Amino acid sequence: MKIEILTLFPKMFDGFLSESIIKRAINDKKVEINIHDLRSYSKLANHSVDDYPYGGGKGMVLMCEPVFDAIADLKNDKTKVIMMTPAGSVYKQKIAYELATEEHLIIICGHYEGFDERIRTIVDLELSIGDYVLTGGEIPSMVIMDSVIRLIDGVIEEESHLKESFNDDLLDYPNYTKPQNFRGLEVPEVLLSGHHQNIDKWRKEQRALKTSLIRPDLLKKD
Ligand code: ADE
Repeated sequence: MKIEILTLFPKMFDGFLSESIIKRAINDKKVEINIHDLRSYSKLANHSVDDYPYGGGKGMVLMCEPVFDAIADLKNDKTKVIMMTPAGSVYKQKIAYELATEEHLIIICGHYEGFDERIRTIVDLELSIGDYVLTGGEIPSMVIMDSVIRLIDGVIEEESHLKESFNDDLLDYPNYTKPQNFRGLEVPEVLLSGHHQNIDKWRKEQRALKTSLIRPDLLKKD
């Protein structure tokens, strides 16, 4: 998979690309990530990419031209163009699985007050990571990349994500490790029994219980 990021703040991605599982996935050639500075697509003398909104109002609006030019430069017939915006569809694990099958993603990170509405005409998918407003689309784009890259074949063991939260619309079961008694807090007896059938049964029950207590909304099928 190849991912192109269009941003006004390329340095925000330095840590993300150089640590942990993402770094390993890049080194193992499971994913190629290219960070593009939108200002390099500006034709204006001062490299600006935003301007005041027509009709007045606060803040600056991301202009069409640098975004249209960047997409024209980077897109091919297999590309999916994604715009990060709090006004997009709310991102879910199901979308992560769908995106993990794509060959080429371009992710536009909006900034400041917003973007020229006409940019929407060249976007395939608008995504929000939740009902709150961040200063820009950079962190949301990292959320999308992180959740998608870990699903690419061979990036992590498949078993690690098959039973985790949100598969089957259920939260994950509780996990424990050594010591067996930590300051009076005990590991549930069943996990020490070595009886795999009982352990599986307990884990299944715990997933249902945890979900009904913490995220009952997940149990209501849409
Ligand atoms: N840009 C600002 N806030 C956002 C959000 N919640 N999701 C996606 N992009 C954003």
